Amino acid sequence: MRIEEKLREIETSNPNKKICIVIGDPVEHSLSPVIHSAGYKSIGLDNQFVFEKMNVAKGELEEFVNTARKFKSIVGITCTMPHKQSIIKYLDENKAQIINAVNTVLCCNGKYTGYNTDWYGIEAPFADRKINLDGKKVAIVGAGGASRAALYTFKKHNCSISILNRTKEKADLLAKEFDCQAFALNNEEAIESAEIIVNATSVGMGEATNLSPIDISLISKNHIVFECIYKPKETLLVQAAKMVGSEVIYGWEMLLYQGILQFEIYTGRRPIMEIMKNVL
Ligand code: ATR
Repeated sequence: MRIEEKLREIETSNPNKKICIVIGDPVEHSLSPVIHSAGYKSIGLDNQFVFEKMNVAKGELEEFVNTARKFKSIVGITCTMPHKQSIIKYLDENKAQIINAVNTVLCCNGKYTGYNTDWYGIEAPFADRKINLDGKKVAIVGAGGASRAALYTFKKHNCSISILNRTKEKADLLAKEFDCQAFALNNEEAIESAEIIVNATSVGMGEATNLSPIDISLISKNHIVFECIYKPKETLLVQAAKMVGSEVIYGWEMLLYQGILQFEIYTGRRPIMEIMKNVL
């Protein structure tokens, strides 16, 4: 009932608006409402769309989707941890089959369709810097949803990929699925020989704010370090990379670009990027 009441409250306070909502647990830290709202304003859609957030725990997802379906005003559901994979079984169509993690659900005439926009959040910052990804040697640290999006992006560019994960078995499974190599987290050779290192773990945020998923002494100026975490902006890994003079791609860049693609899916329009960027 809490979910229905909360959705009713959102609908009542936003009469005649199309509602997008980010769900997760935790969700408080999510900047999706901030960037989408800036995007709406940037092209004059703020009187038509609103973007809210709602804490939905793991065990509440089914109830949330069933309840949301009663609200025709809901046009988009953004999924963050821990729902990116579990949402799939409640969808009518999954357009993110290869990645198999959904962060974007378009709700249109009662049909719920899942997409993934994280892969674009990973690819676009390289394009911005005119870095050609083709054939690069990449170490992806982590084996969760963000790693799957990274794998999709780098596979697209025929990169040679190593996956390093605390739970080696998970890295093994992913490596088999995406035809690449798996290693334990502390594999020095895989880190040192990579041209690009991606942190797709949650190490560096929350309770692990002052930690790095890999030994920072292995980072050199020859690496490009891609950090998926955007809060804090400068994780320990990013600080270490900057210290040795590596090129750094920040989590806020990934957030921005995945958000732009998501915005287009929800609204059918392209926002003004600079305005979205300024709120980050
Ligand atoms: P997401 O969908 O955001 O990628 P996830 O699926 O929960 O989130 O994945 C989190 C990743 O961070 C996993 O690779 C996890 O490692 P395990 O597979 O061993 O759990 C990694 N991770 C989380 N906490 C970690 C820690 N303290 N040290 C190392 N890796 C950690």
